[in-house]
Amino acid sequence: MDAISVIRAKRDGTRLTDAQIDWIIDAYTRGEVADEQMSALAMAIFLNGMDRSEIARWTAAMIASGERMDFSSLPRPTADKHSTGGVGDKITLPLAPLVAACGAAVPQLSGRGLGHTGGTLDKLESIPGWRAQLSGDDMLAVLRDVGSVICAAGEGLARADKKLYALRDVTGTVESIPLIASSIMSKKIAEGTGSLVLDVKVGSGAFMKDIGSARELATTMVGLGHDHGVRTTALLTDMSTPLGLTAGNALEVRESVEVLAGGGPADVVELTLALAREMLDAAGLKDADPAGALADGTAMDHWRRMIAAQGGDPDAPLPVAREHHVLHAESTGVLTRLDAYAVGLAAWRLGAGRARKEDPVQAGAGIELHAKPGDHITAGQPLLTLHTATPSAFPYALEALSGAIDYAPANTEFTTDPIVLERIA
Ligand code: URA
Repeated sequence: MDAISVIRAKRDGTRLTDAQIDWIIDAYTRGEVADEQMSALAMAIFLNGMDRSEIARWTAAMIASGERMDFSSLPRPTADKHSTGGVGDKITLPLAPLVAACGAAVPQLSGRGLGHTGGTLDKLESIPGWRAQLSGDDMLAVLRDVGSVICAAGEGLARADKKLYALRDVTGTVESIPLIASSIMSKKIAEGTGSLVLDVKVGSGAFMKDIGSARELATTMVGLGHDHGVRTTALLTDMSTPLGLTAGNALEVRESVEVLAGGGPADVVELTLALAREMLDAAGLKDADPAGALADGTAMDHWRRMIAAQGGDPDAPLPVAREHHVLHAESTGVLTRLDAYAVGLAAWRLGAGRARKEDPVQAGAGIELHAKPGDHITAGQPLLTLHTATPSAFPYALEALSGAIDYAPANTEFTTDPIVLERIA
């Protein structure tokens, strides 16, 4: 077998054979196939796609390229969630301890942010002392003691994906349904969860800009989960405007704690509860009461124990940015659009995100929203507060926001889309 014949086959629109897939993934993981050859193949897949059985084989080969975790010794059923990423998407933070408080074990392997979407680990690292890196044994110990853990994936899981995702990131081949589906599902299946809920975002702040592509991605991933014996469902959820009222690391932790305290923005609470119910159903805990666990403080108690178990101080004050700039509403009327991508880009430019994997992030940087689409606005009222330690970033953030906000006259009938658009099982 050789890489050139595999690249040619996909370039010419042929289905790759199982043997070709197994060989190329293994040879790439071992370093026998060069990055430039894998880049060419990724571009051929991006342009010509893969059929369902090819994606299944590609995913299986990626799983086989690394270790598999095993949670079968835990006394509780395991349930995990994966979001395809969006702006202000802090849901994992309240969701993991909430689902643990309802009786499931939540092994949440998470990532860092890149580009305009934030990363769960970056958000949690704004809590003084909190550590993302845990050994397999430590992860199991936190799961056993607390019920939920949010940490970085170990080096050994789906090794081929680690290399391939980094390559796709710099070769314009990220936005491919076969490559995204196999990348996400290889990690989730290797992680060993018994059930999985996918939050597939749709809209300007998401990978998938339209509902048709989001549906195709969700259906592909749900199928891959079922093929590997993982009970998998997906919710397609709106990402045309940021989730909640904050985008940025410490700002989002603060908002998550508000949700755990029984408050917080309505859309964040609604989505947290919808995903919690899906996870609990999939884990066989149909009688659990997640709304009750938020209201009676048991979810908050699990959060505090989870943060402390990873070295964090749940009572420590969160970092705050030194510099602020308030953007005021230009018109009186109804806010009809506050674009998620623009807010994500602006938060990134303020220092909340990174351009390259090795860049640091500012814990305090980001954007606070004072209104959401559907709200009535008076000209001159504060609309957004921009936070950063580097005030030279303000003009660039404001540039990202230009054209991102629309108003309609005050008497306009305007209804916002529901947060959960569709369910796929
Ligand atoms: N997240 C992943 O893990 N992989 C992708 O390809 C895209 C998003």
